[in-house]
This record gives sequence, C-alpha cells and structure tokens, in this order.
Amino acid sequence: MRRHPCFRALTAHSPKRLKSPLMLVLGIETSCDETAAAVVSDSGDVYSDVVRSQIASHAPYGGVVPEIASRDHARAVVPVVREAIAASGFTLAQIDGIAVTSRPGLSGALLVGLSAAKGLAWATQKPFVTVDHLVGHLLAVLLQRPGSSAPRPEYPFIALLVSGGHTAIYRVNGPELSLVHEIGATRDDAAGEAFDKVAKLLGLGYPGGPQIDRLAAIGNAARAGVTLPRGIADHRSFEMSFSGLKSAVARHVASLPSPPQDQALADLCAAFQATIVETLVSKTVRAAAREEVPRIVLAGGVAANKGLRARMAEVCTRRELALFVPPFSSCTDNAAMIAYAGALRLSRGETDTLSEGPATKTALLRVTRKGGGKR
Ligand code: KG4
Ligand code: ZN
Repeated sequence: MRRHPCFRALTAHSPKRLKSPLMLVLGIETSCDETAAAVVSDSGDVYSDVVRSQIASHAPYGGVVPEIASRDHARAVVPVVREAIAASGFTLAQIDGIAVTSRPGLSGALLVGLSAAKGLAWATQKPFVTVDHLVGHLLAVLLQRPGSSAPRPEYPFIALLVSGGHTAIYRVNGPELSLVHEIGATRDDAAGEAFDKVAKLLGLGYPGGPQIDRLAAIGNAARAGVTLPRGIADHRSFEMSFSGLKSAVARHVASLPSPPQDQALADLCAAFQATIVETLVSKTVRAAAREEVPRIVLAGGVAANKGLRARMAEVCTRRELALFVPPFSSCTDNAAMIAYAGALRLSRGETDTLSEGPATKTALLRVTRKGGGKR
C-alpha cells in the first residue's frame, strides 16, 4: 500500500520477541480530526500506532469542519486499519478484540469508526467494545511505547486532561468509568479551544496550540503590556473558565493600532500561555494536595505544550509530587489509548453489542455545570 505522507506508523516489537501478550486489541479512533488505528495488548504494549491527521483539510477554515471530517474518515479508515495491522506484525486472525471510540465527539466522525469496527467485529466474530475518548486520554500515560522505559503511575493519580474539547481535573482510582471522579472542569471553553481561538485571531492558523507554544518560547510575558484575567482565580474552586481570557486578548488586539507582529506577537503569546498554564498548574497541584494523592498525570493534546510541561515539572519538584507526562504521541489523539482502554474492558469480561451508537457527551460523571451564573 502506498503510504500517505500524513501517516505516522511505528512498529513496537518484532512478534518474534513477543512475551506472548495475554490479549491483543485493535483500536480505532475517529472522534474528531484524526483517523487512527493501533494494535495494543492489555498490558499496554504498543505494537503499532497509525495516525492520519486531517489538519490540512481543515486548516483553510480555521477549525474542524464536521462534514469534511466525516468524509476524510470514510476515505482513510480502511487503509489506516490495514496499515495498523500490518505494522503490528500480527494478522487480523491473531487479534483478540476490536475497540472503538464511541463518545464524546462529532457524531458523523464517530459513526465512521464505529461502522468500521462493527463490520470488522461482525465479519471476524471477535468481541467488540466501545471506549469513552476521555478515558482513553486518561489511560494513555500507561502505554508502553517501544524504546520507552518511562515509569507508569500507580492508582490513584490526579490527572489534568486538557484537550481541544475538554478541560478537567480528575481523581483516577482505576481504569473503570466509575473509578474516575471529576474534581473540577471548565465552565466554558476548553484550554485547547482557547489556544485555537486566540491563534486564529492572531492570524496564526490552525491548530493554534503548537504555534502559540512555539512563539511563547521566544516571547516575554512581562513585555506584552497587558494584564490578562485568570478565570476563576478563587483558590478554593477547582472550576475553570477560559472564554474571558480569549475575549481579553481580542479586546487588547482591537485596541492596538495594528495587529501585533514579530516580538510583540511572541510577547502576547507568552502572556496568554502563561495565564492558562498558571491556572492549570495551580488548580491541579491543589487538587493533589486536597486529595492527598502525590501523583500527577498530564493528558490530552494541550499536555504537549512545552510551557505547561516545564511549569508543572517545576512546581511538582518543589512540592515533592511525582509527575508523569506521556510522550507527545500519547498526548494528542491516537488509537493506541483506545485499544488499551478497550483491552482493559475486555479483560474485565465487558463487551458491547453491535447496536452501540455514537454519543456527543462523555459517559464520565460531570460535576461542573457549564455556563455562567451563581454556584
Ligand atoms: O487531544 P487532542 O489531540 O484532540 C481533542 O480531543 O481535542 O487535542 C487537540 C488540542 C488542540 O486544541 C490543539 O491546539 C492543542 O490540543 N494542542 C496544543 C499543543 N499541541 C496541541 N495546545 C497547546 N500547546 C501545544 N503544544
Ligand atoms: Zn482527544
């Protein structure tokens, strides 16, 4: 098969060196703008991990266009699954089960992965399980990628899940849905959404997080000439808000004679990023103190942010907290985390029927009410 330039594939181990995995699961992920498939064992060993990004299709629109996402997934899902199986060194017959993201996400996009997974499970008569995308992100830190000997956290751990669609702090007592407790979440925009919206208004393109991260590294927040609001700075609250911050950047830019360029642009990116990072770090560290859990895990696409990683590491060292940061490939959307979460479900004896459909909301219990108003 011709390899698309957007394919990222890796083969973890040669099957000959396998320590006979107990269970091998093919995972499929199509909840947003990445078509992904992976083969992972229930011990977390990653045998293949293929991600086809749709960024080029959405970039001209400055954000994900749901219909384009569904069509791109429909075109890519079969070759991506084929590639993941081939790169794993196993055959489809050797795979024990099929896992797929069923929620939360774009309905049409989820439907493509679900249909592919159901078709495969039906045709091969293999067990089928659905996975909540957020649970996948929370467990991604436990994946054993080739060549990595990074330590894995034990349960319980405090997880900061920061992505394009979700931002929340959880206490994770175990891999089951009922063992994941939300401590606090954003009331409005997700942190990644704030990065993307601010990048768009600064003319930085989509997705904005990596662009702002790059510029913030050469900027100086103190020179930006603006004080940005830290949403819900109240130290007793674990709730967050990022929409005011985005509006403050918009008002500041509108007040300037011309859009910021070069160093001024980098300084503004540094100020914006520092404000978000301070909120995320301080609330997560306080959650760890309140819960008396000395382990913090970063998860989700924004966990790739270098400023967040550096600041969290600094504060955790000072507070004697163990910090677990997955590699970039485990932070952004991937199917390895879905295959692993599915493998754990299967190993607990759980399966789903082929009548399972997509859902836009997470199955995790939410305690933070969205929107404004008195609490
Ligand atoms: O987890 P993810 O890949 O997809 C969702 O489930 O949303 O997260 C995507 C988000 C986007 O908003 C993107 O801008 C953000 O993660 N992101 C970053 C960085 N890399 C990706 N945000 C800040 N800094 C980064 N380096
Ligand atoms: Zn995600």
